[in-house]
Amino acid sequence: MISQLTARRSSALSGRVRAPGDKSISHRALILGGMADGVTEIEGLLEGDDILATARAVQAFGAGVERLGPGRWRVTGRGGFRTPLDVIDCGNAGTGVRLLMGAAAGYGLTATFDGDASLRKRPMKRVTDPLRRMGARFGWLTNEDRLPVALTGGALTAIEHEQAVASAQVKSAILLAGLNADGVTTVLEPEKSRDHTERMLRAFGAEVGVEPVGQGWRVTLRGGQALRGTAVAVPGDPSSAAFPLAAGLITPGSEVTVEGVMLNPLRTGLFDTWIEMGADLTISDRREAGGEEVGDVTARHSALKGVVVPEARAASMIDEYPILAATAAFADGQTVMRGVGEMRVKESDRIALMVAGLRACGVMVEEEPEGFIVTGGQVKGGATVRTAHDHRIAMSHLVLGLAADAPVSVDDPGMIATSFPGFAEMMRGLGGDLA
Ligand code: S3P
Repeated sequence: MISQLTARRSSALSGRVRAPGDKSISHRALILGGMADGVTEIEGLLEGDDILATARAVQAFGAGVERLGPGRWRVTGRGGFRTPLDVIDCGNAGTGVRLLMGAAAGYGLTATFDGDASLRKRPMKRVTDPLRRMGARFGWLTNEDRLPVALTGGALTAIEHEQAVASAQVKSAILLAGLNADGVTTVLEPEKSRDHTERMLRAFGAEVGVEPVGQGWRVTLRGGQALRGTAVAVPGDPSSAAFPLAAGLITPGSEVTVEGVMLNPLRTGLFDTWIEMGADLTISDRREAGGEEVGDVTARHSALKGVVVPEARAASMIDEYPILAATAAFADGQTVMRGVGEMRVKESDRIALMVAGLRACGVMVEEEPEGFIVTGGQVKGGATVRTAHDHRIAMSHLVLGLAADAPVSVDDPGMIATSFPGFAEMMRGLGGDLA
């Protein structure tokens, strides 16, 4: 196992690559397939460690899960989950554990959920509190609000839940539990979060109501609806496509195209922000795949300028602030990222780690409780960055290193495989000096 990966200043990057399958949609395809009756055939599934953990979990809950070929998986659902024989280990995946807790809560079973060191630090009450209000029971094994936790599921009653912060994970957990609850489950979101669960529930035959309310929406689901297995084509992940595209934007002379990128407007806040920064980013061949709009996105080296990112855009790019910050380091002026306190409870405290990593690379950064400000200019590099088990922190600094004056290393590239297996090979294929 490599214990470090180093990016060095590279000459122009060029080429066409395919984004790996979308992580959010891959988790959902497996989980809904496991809850459904009948066969779900999935194409383009992300085979990252987070998703493989969810595949094992769905199998442990009683569904048949087979790999038919690269990215091709078959899930045979038995119309419900049953008590697993072992602890459900979700690895590094917040989405995996939160959605699975919601899915499992409506069945008469007991299950213990656990994860790696990073997942054990992440808050879980945002999901278990509403599920408890619906009738599920949770026993904390070590620490209130943190994994491991034991769930006893069973007869649930629908609730109305108003979210303080837009969270697709919380919304999805409640909706999946709501499938087996008595009554109509309602989730009110102040801002819209990604709607993959709503779309996929419909593809599996359930009715979901969506009504605009202010900047957000009210999502409703009647309990007692059975899901039917279906075919799912997973589109390319815009959150992963962001890394080769960012490398294209900051490395002089580059032109990089990522094919098949999902363009769901609740996921493309980064692309809008880059365009406002002056990025030469173009989208071609817009088409439909798997119920989502996709397109081929091309990034050419661009003279970027700093911007103030609208706070209302946070939900549509919450995972993209680390790579935005890396590109902002090369922009002229300040890029202001505020209203992103949620970044502190992702796979790591992403504000603290980006601030520390960028500063180690000679970039001026101001840290705030709920945000940070990057002042762009020359990026010195010449540092080994601490990633704290966070794949996006690792990839963001490696991309930065491709255009920095001196090499940039990350202490632990192993976690990159949670969301982007083949990242280093892809970047090398484009001409990046990564070893
Ligand atoms: C996800 C939702 C987001 C995001 C995560 C994936 C999902 O989390 O950060 O990577 O698939 O629903 P929150 O819902 O907690 O904001």
